[in-house]
Amino acid sequence: MTDSHANHGRPGEALALSTRLMHIGEQESYGSGVKPLSPPLHHAAIWEAESAELLGAIGRGTADRAFYGRYGHPNARQAEEAMALLEGASAALVFATGMSALTTTWDALLSPGDAIVLVGPLYGGTEMAAKRAARWGIEVRRAPIDEPATWPALLRGAKLVHTESITNPTLRVPDLEALARAAREAGALSMVDATFASPLLQRPLALGIDLSMHSATKFLGGHSDLLGGTIAGSEELLARIAAERKVLGTILAPEPSWRLLRSIKTLELRMARVEATRRVLCERLRSTARVRLVLDPLHPSHPDHAVALRMLRGGAGGIATFELEDEPAALRCLDRLRLFHRAASLGGSESLASLPALTSHAALTPEQRVACGIRAGCIRLAIGLEDANDLWRDLQQALELV
Ligand SMILES: Cc1ncc(COP(=O)(O)O)c(C=O)c1O
Repeated sequence: MTDSHANHGRPGEALALSTRLMHIGEQESYGSGVKPLSPPLHHAAIWEAESAELLGAIGRGTADRAFYGRYGHPNARQAEEAMALLEGASAALVFATGMSALTTTWDALLSPGDAIVLVGPLYGGTEMAAKRAARWGIEVRRAPIDEPATWPALLRGAKLVHTESITNPTLRVPDLEALARAAREAGALSMVDATFASPLLQRPLALGIDLSMHSATKFLGGHSDLLGGTIAGSEELLARIAAERKVLGTILAPEPSWRLLRSIKTLELRMARVEATRRVLCERLRSTARVRLVLDPLHPSHPDHAVALRMLRGGAGGIATFELEDEPAALRCLDRLRLFHRAASLGGSESLASLPALTSHAALTPEQRVACGIRAGCIRLAIGLEDANDLWRDLQQALELV
């Protein structure tokens, strides 16, 4: 953020986050007296230095300039500036996908013989990354999400602990303050995949966590038209991760970086809309006879209600999970939906419905699924931007036919 942005407010007045975000990517006027209000998209993969001296300085790392697209480029930097602001971080990095943000970070921080602690149940892709880590000689330990008293012992001697802001699809909410404390005492780094909460409902770094990661494919991108990932934290940690990103070549390309910045500017509006609709749908589902259980971290019936009130600011994200009596009932409901799309992602502008037993958690046995709280009749809704009453009527007619 350059000082010139301060001129948009009254002298000495701090600008709100939403205002500051709108000015990221603003260009100089190129001397012509006018400037584009949408930042230019730089397709260049390679940049020419104006002198041999500057080329040498860039090569030695003493001049920070665009040079070679795999190392960094202006559109990635603008998206990173926006992410650092959103996360309250000194720095952020963008990646080709959420998974490459995660694996690049783990690769940067872990070596054979180190231990990582997973506080789950976690996203299936993260479980696959854990299998890969084990293949490279990293010890993978597990810690129960709702038993913080066990964490200090499980973290002893570990290098990294990884969890999620809100788990999928059971919407468990770990106590990140307790986790950050346990990690610090054990000398381990802590990392949160904050995809489900978005940086607006939770800032893991403010709770003492070292690294906050997102699949930008979800709420940050918001339109089901980009794959991306982000990581935010201290400059020192991000320098190590950026070095690994150079080697692995996992930086986000210019065009999706441009779209990510464009989307971040409407994140606050989209999250507010999704939260309002989530509350309406959860409330109406709770009073529907056929629905056995509605998972809503902000409702007193949820096992993590008290933790969620401390960890989340003003919402629980765009996911509503509920249970019907069995899998055939859930399948019939899914088949009869007309507005909800039968698809497995989240965070886009259109609402989706899926059965975790058939999608995100298909690789688990029924017993393993029940152990992480997913019963056969479980349906996950990813709420989009449609009208709440229209979405409810769609659910209602599908449930009536069940
Ligand atoms: C919580 C969570 N983390 C990470 C990912 C991986 O993100 P991507 O698909 O962008 O690689 C996903 C994808 O569904 C996710 O739900």
